[in-house]
Amino acid sequence: MSGQGSEPTGGRGNRRLGVLISGRGSNLQAIIDAIAERRLDAEIAVVISNRRDAAGLDRARRAGIGTAVFSHASYESREAFDAAVAVELKRRGVRLVCLAGFMRLLGDSFVAAFPNAILNIHPSLLPAFVGLDAQRQAWEHGVRVTGATVHIVTPELDDGPIVRQAAVPVLPADTPESLAARILVEEHRIYPEAIQAVLDGGWRIDGRRFVEAS
Ligand code: GAR
Repeated sequence: MSGQGSEPTGGRGNRRLGVLISGRGSNLQAIIDAIAERRLDAEIAVVISNRRDAAGLDRARRAGIGTAVFSHASYESREAFDAAVAVELKRRGVRLVCLAGFMRLLGDSFVAAFPNAILNIHPSLLPAFVGLDAQRQAWEHGVRVTGATVHIVTPELDDGPIVRQAAVPVLPADTPESLAARILVEEHRIYPEAIQAVLDGGWRIDGRRFVEAS
């Protein structure tokens, strides 16, 4: 893979995010808070959930952010679901799509519709422990250090150039739950930082590497 941040709709001044969630939405909340506290220069154009009962939708409504629900069960195929979500994001003028606990795999055409403009947060130090329940996978494996990763989304699961990572030690008394709670604190710190870095531009993709101007 190679290339640079694509020229977005509305030019570089467009700092509109589309945040995709499936559940609790604590990373969404971290993004909302970072914007409110001016640590992140962005605006959330829309929060989209594939589940009507996602608690994160209430967080968005409380913050006065527009929401949309696309229930994947009502679409005949994954492609049809992806296309509907992409149309909504484009309609709202979204430049950067942020997956925040969005538990659906997005297909090739969705990824192609937002070249180098989809971020995901994953609760491990990728490339270790891809997929579901990464914190428990790390705990069961017995690693001494795990963490969190924000990366650019490619069609492969939990793959793609790494924008930010944070390490979290696994303590002897940890349970998967206590470990996940400490990782989450780091997720909330690095996701807004990564979004800011991507929106600010001045980076390029070299092979697998996200390279920032020094
Ligand atoms: C977070 O821990 C996020 O890293 C993880 O889901 C949780 C969502 O929490 N994502 C994945 O595992 C993606 N592979 P949140 O809804 O409170 O942000």
